[in-house]
Amino acid sequence: MGKFWNYTNSSNKMSPHMLLISLLSSMVLEVWCQSDCSYQKLLKSLNLENASKVRPVRNWKNASIVNIDLTLYTIVDLDMSTQTATTFVWFYMAWTDEYISWNPGDFCGIKKLFVNSDYFWKPDLYIYEMTENDDNSPEIPYYILRNNGQIINAMPLRIISTCNLNIYKFPFDIQTCKLSFGSFMYTVSDIVMWPKSNSSVVNQNAKDVFASKDEWELQSVAVYNTTHKTMGLEYSQVIYSIYIKRVAVIYVLNLIIPACFLVFLDIASMFIHNYENRLDFKITVVLGFSVMLLILNALLPNSDSTPMLGTFCCICMAMMILSVIGTIATSYMTEKSTTNSQVPVWVKVLVLKHLARIILFKKDFAKEELVTPVTADNDPENAKKSETNEDVSDQRRALENDSNVKKEVKLLKRILSEILRIHRKLILDMQQKDEQTEWSLVAQIVDRLVLILYLSIVTLVFIIMICVWTI
Ligand SMILES: *[C@@H]1O[C@H](CO)[C@@H](O)[C@H](O)[C@H]1NC(C)=O
Repeated sequence: MGKFWNYTNSSNKMSPHMLLISLLSSMVLEVWCQSDCSYQKLLKSLNLENASKVRPVRNWKNASIVNIDLTLYTIVDLDMSTQTATTFVWFYMAWTDEYISWNPGDFCGIKKLFVNSDYFWKPDLYIYEMTENDDNSPEIPYYILRNNGQIINAMPLRIISTCNLNIYKFPFDIQTCKLSFGSFMYTVSDIVMWPKSNSSVVNQNAKDVFASKDEWELQSVAVYNTTHKTMGLEYSQVIYSIYIKRVAVIYVLNLIIPACFLVFLDIASMFIHNYENRLDFKITVVLGFSVMLLILNALLPNSDSTPMLGTFCCICMAMMILSVIGTIATSYMTEKSTTNSQVPVWVKVLVLKHLARIILFKKDFAKEELVTPVTADNDPENAKKSETNEDVSDQRRALENDSNVKKEVKLLKRILSEILRIHRKLILDMQQKDEQTEWSLVAQIVDRLVLILYLSIVTLVFIIMICVWTI
């Protein structure tokens, strides 16, 4: 343009005055022409319609390096039954197109261009854990081109991915969900994925923006890159591990504490002395506990690993049932003690002798000692011996003295026999009482045994639970 004007000017013969004017005007025109600083011009000169549709490297042996970054925004959902996690992330990906470049000086200093174009090559990003192609991701169709050929693609992504859930420590569990980004087609010799920022930066970014959603709280995010081998081919991957922790307060308040209260109530009911009342009470508590179990069942996620909490509740239920059976047994035994039936020998040996010793039942021994001397005294031979002694003395007297005395002796004999009968009856009564006390002793020992078993097993299970949850 400048040249043209110069040419037309020079064709005329003119004064220096006119020359100055024409020079000035040519300069103005020059500036006006160069002031086409539009993106349009740059885009036209880049000629993207003919941009490379294959991997844009000048030597095919050079791998394209794809830089990846991810900021976790929120966990939308973690489905326990299907074991899938829905996450929402802000994703960044950058690579270099060796055929795109310009000098910013030629284009009024434009260094980057926002372009909505499908013309150039893009890496085929694939998320290995993805189970659904979700169309709910917001569509951001822009790419950033830098003058050195770098292409940046940043977009929000809604990812539905598998997540292997381990609910052993439920509700104090920490879950790990992985997101592996890589190319589906290109092997490691073509595309190499690199994380843009290291774990601490990724973690800090996520913590800064993470929007807490109902049940889950972000623990940390870590990133590492690796090569994934499959079917003899190697693929480059960048893997983000997301550690999330369940907010357990709801479960503690609605489930664990009420269950513990019920167990304590059941243990306390072991100290009700009236067995019938105790049985009624216990059945009510068991009912309440089974309602708790129903709620737990609805809350518990389906998984191949059983949660410790379920096992704990099961053991508590078993102990409750055991104590109910124990109460039934003791009430049966007290019933027996009112009808005068004998305690079977094997029960005597097993319960009164061995069990009593094992559970250190003190009262029992004191009573048994009291019982044994009475039974030892109670042989009729002793009585008979005394009788014969009296007979001997009577005979002696009879030989010495008169018939009056004989009458008195007869009377005395009768009295003696009466006394003997009373003695025998007393002994029999005592034996019966012994049997009664024996039955109630057996009942007490069984009751004590159940209580000790109950307490020790529940305490043990409690300790194991707390260990599992805190470690
Ligand atoms: C991981 O990425 C770094 C650069 O961030 C790179 O130097 C390293 O070779 C990569 N490792 C693998 C296994 O790809």
